[in-house]
Order: sequence, then structure tokens, then C-alpha cells
Amino acid sequence: MCGIVGATAHNEVVNLIVDGLRTLEYRGYDSSGIAAQNTTETLIRKEAGNLSALQNSLTKNPLSGTCAIGHTRWATHGKPNRENAHPHISGNAVAVVHNGVIENSNELRQFLINRGYVFTSETDSETIPHMVDLYLNSGVGFFDACRKAIGHLEGSYAIAITFNSEPGKIIAARKGSPLIIAQGEKGYMVASDPIALREKNQIVYYLEDGDIAEVTAETCDFYDSEGKHVSRIGTRLANSKCTTSKNKFASFMQKEIFEQPDSVRATLSGRLVNSRTSNRLFDKGSCTILDKVDNIHIVACGTSLNAGQVAKYWLESIAKIPCQVEIASEYRYRDPVVPPNTLFLSISQSGETADTLAALRFANESPYLGTLGICNTDNSSLYRESEAVILTKAGIEVGVASTKALTTQLTALALLVLKFGELRNSSHVVLDSFADALSHLPEMLEDALKTEEQIKEIAQRISQHKSVLFLGRGHHYPVAIEGALKLKEISYIHAEAYAAGELKHGPLALVDRNMPVVVLCPKNDLLEKLSSNIEEVKARHGQVYLLADHKIDGQSNHEIKDVVEFECGDNLISPITFNVPLQLLAYHTAEYLGKNIDQPRNLAKSVTVE
Ligand code: M6R
Repeated sequence: MCGIVGATAHNEVVNLIVDGLRTLEYRGYDSSGIAAQNTTETLIRKEAGNLSALQNSLTKNPLSGTCAIGHTRWATHGKPNRENAHPHISGNAVAVVHNGVIENSNELRQFLINRGYVFTSETDSETIPHMVDLYLNSGVGFFDACRKAIGHLEGSYAIAITFNSEPGKIIAARKGSPLIIAQGEKGYMVASDPIALREKNQIVYYLEDGDIAEVTAETCDFYDSEGKHVSRIGTRLANSKCTTSKNKFASFMQKEIFEQPDSVRATLSGRLVNSRTSNRLFDKGSCTILDKVDNIHIVACGTSLNAGQVAKYWLESIAKIPCQVEIASEYRYRDPVVPPNTLFLSISQSGETADTLAALRFANESPYLGTLGICNTDNSSLYRESEAVILTKAGIEVGVASTKALTTQLTALALLVLKFGELRNSSHVVLDSFADALSHLPEMLEDALKTEEQIKEIAQRISQHKSVLFLGRGHHYPVAIEGALKLKEISYIHAEAYAAGELKHGPLALVDRNMPVVVLCPKNDLLEKLSSNIEEVKARHGQVYLLADHKIDGQSNHEIKDVVEFECGDNLISPITFNVPLQLLAYHTAEYLGKNIDQPRNLAKSVTVE
């Protein structure tokens, strides 16, 4: 989703901004731009398309300046074209980059048009520089003009603003969208994601909701939503071991699929001791939050939601805790009933997903026993606003399609279930085998990765179809949903997942000799039932592809197109390992189709707007 990078320093900053924007590309964008101040004016370059279009424009018409703001835009209001790209400017003097959505932009636009302002874009964001300009014209200074203009904004925003008459100053503000400020050796930077700053700056300040900061090359002053001068504590940005380079891999997604054994190892590390959870399970808060829990509400979006669905099966079968899983964008707009002693559990890789955060904020005001987050991003909004957090240790995930974030979320959830099982005196035999399976999970994932060559062949065949069905039963049903999500997300092939028993209630009508049906077929108590469902597909000549952890007997007729056999581990953890061949299937199908795997069309890595 949109990205912001700004800098004010004693030296040239335009290249620094371009480098920062490059690191934010993975979040998804469709246009980009930079505004740089030289001594007399603010100059803007912006282009539709990817960053190389902006770089070409900068080569033809170079920009220079010691204070500049840059942006990668992911269209919400208005088409992804040059006019709508940021920065937006008012009166050739006030330049603004904005992430988020201004919900009252129609009223503000009309208000400004009535006062003679001319809009050159279709965006909600263009209202901001004009509002600042309006206050400047009324005689107030730059900071106060920004503060008063921001006071009119409804919705979510992270903003950086510059003004010709106060060169070298950036006003930065946030509400609902992330923004940080970093102190470097030669000045300050403003960014929507610390990744844009890595190795260039040392101390990072996380703006709180409602904060406004006044930043120059030498100073940074913070004001809260009341306009009171406040101090914000800086933290030293740890150098990430996980670089944003692809190494030998063709794409970040492929690299991240292969990183899963290590990411899961890191997520388990120090948290499982002698087959029981250690006191290092939580990164914020403590497990005392779990003592009185009688119910759990899990709320998340996309892949994180699918992780939550798997956890529901585990929580109810192992720890016997009733659990409800809900899409965050639905949950936030209904009136959920909160039974006594209910824990709110949100799951998010980025910790900045707008719908999940809104649900968390609602939960913080509701009679929940507590709010627990499972998150991959230290210091994200979800981390800061949850009472307790278990961090997944996936490292930076660049590919828009979630892979290692999912398997580490499932690992963290499995540890949480184990902890609940311990607290509720669940069967020792079950807990022992769950813990034992978890401790071997990294090796199991390594084995699952060996399916790649076989999966590649299947992917070639799948790539020739327009639609694919995925089937699973029990705790493999959410995994089938995740397999379908992955395929449609990066290959653009239509894919749906069904609980296999549901097939005959409608979707079976779709099955004919042209329909590939991918079936998750682990050897467990449901195998017999699943075999009947497979027969239903075969009887309609559907093309069956089986992912299985056992020899498939008596399935040799020609409707079975392929069987991928792999060691998926104990039934309890196989919903984790089964993701690997499904990720590889989506990946190689998209590769055959020549798609942009790391940045699929229309999608963003972190969905910070509703
Ligand atoms: O950062 P989050 O985990 O909150 O993101 C939620 C979804 O946007 C995300 O999982 C999305 O579905 C992935 N692109 C799927 O691969």
C-alpha cells in the first residue's frame, strides 16, 4: 500500500528518497513521485507505473534539494495515473504526501472549491495542501496552518508536508496509518515503514495516533493531538539479519517459501522446553492473561484469518476452549456479543491492517478479559495497542503473498494452544505428541520443500485452466482455503475451496473433465469420508490432484492425474506442512503464466486502508 519517505538534512537527499521508495516497492503501488525544495521553489516529479518511470524522469530532469518528500501510491480515490500520483501541491508552495483515506474529502473539496481552489487530481489527498494553504493565507505560521488543517481531516492518515517559505522543515502527522521519524547523522527522515530507513539511521521515533512532529535537519519536536509539546522515546533500530535481497532465488516469494524451516525454528526457539511451553512465549504482557479464559474470539484478515481458522480446530479439540473466528471487516461493523471471560485474539503479519486494528480498538473498549496479538512486526500499531503479544519471527516478508508469515503464525498459535492445554490440564498424551511434533516441524517443512520438482509439473498443467477447486476436511479445510487464496492471488486463476463434504451441496455442478480438483488427503480419521468425496469427483471425470502423506491404494484410474506424496508429520501439525506444496503450486503456476509474483496486480502487502 502507499509508502512515504521524506528527509531533511545538510546534504542532498533526493537519492536517499529514491532508495527509500525502492525498499517500499514490495508493499504494492501503481505510481510514485518526489517533491524537492531548492532555495526558491518546490519542484515535483511524478509518474504512473513503477519506480523506474520516476527514475527515468529524474534522469531527464534531475531534482536536487536538502529537503524532499516522496511517495509510492496505491490507488483508492482516482485512477492510478500521473495526475493522481503524490506529492500534491497547493499554490506551488505547499507539498503533501499522504497515506490513508480522508473520509470527508467530498465536503472538504466542495468547501475549498467554494473558496476558489482548483483541483488537478481526483484524490482525497489533494484537499490537504489546499487546506494548509487556506490557513497560511489567513496569516498563521506553517506549523499552525498544518495543525488547523489536520484538525479538519476525518479518516486515517500519515502525512508529510513541506512549505517553500519555511525551507528545510517537514511537518509529519499520523492517525490510523503508521509513520516514524528517524534521526540520522546528517539529519532526519520520515517514513511509513522502518524498512525504508534500514542502515541509514540509528534512532527511531514511532508517532502515536494524533501526533504532529515538526522536523528540521537539526531538531524534531513532537506535539500530541491536543497540541501539547510531548516527548517521544526513540528506540534503536536493530539491524535486521534478514536482508531484502532475493539471493539466489527468482523472487522474494520463492525465497520466503524456502526460508520457512528457519523462520519456524526462530519462532519456536526458547519457547518450547522439555515438551512444554516456557515463560518466554510472550514478547509483551504475560501468560497470566490466559488463566481465566473461557472463550476466544479470533479476528483477522486474509491469510492471517486462515491461520485463525486452523487454530479454532486446535483450541477446541486440544484445550476444549470454545472459539469463534471472524473476518475483521465484518466484526468491526456488527455488535458482537462478548461472553464473560472471553479473550480477544488478533493475528496480523504487518500489525498495520486497518480492519484488524479497528477490531482491536473496539475490543480494547469492550468487556473482553484481555487483548492478545500474534504479529510479525515489533512496534507495529497492533503490537503497541494489544495488552499482550506473541511475536512471530519470520523476519521481513516482502512478497505480497504471505508464506513464512503464515507458517510462523500457525507455529505461534500451536504454542499458544499448548499453553492453554497445560493450563487446563488437557491429556498429557495429546500435549506430549503435539509438543513433540512441533519440535520436529522445521525438518518436516524441509521435507515438504522437496516436493518442488513434482509440483512444478502439476503447476504447468494447472496453468492451462481457468478455474480450480481445492478440497479439505477438518483442520485441513482452512488450509485448502489458503491454497485457493494463494493461487488466485498470484496466478489470477479463479480458485475456490470447499469443505469436501460440502461438495455435493452445490459446487459439484462445476465438476467436469476440465476441472482440476486439488485434494488435501492426509491419513487421519476423516480419510474414509474424504475418499467418498474423491469418488464423487472422479464419477464426474474431474481431474484429481492428491496431496497425501501415504500411499494411495486403489486410486489408479485415470481421473487421478497426480499424487504428491510427502511426509507431512503428525496429524496435529500437518495443517502447517500442507501449506508448503500449496504455496509451491501457486508459485510455479504464476511463474508459468509469467505473472509479477512479488507484486500481484491490485494488491498491496500491508492493507492500511479499509
Ligand atoms: O498483515 P496482515 O497479516 O494483517 O495482512 C492480512 C492480509 O492482507 C494478508 O494476509 C493477505 O491476505 C495476503 N496477501 C495473502 O497472501
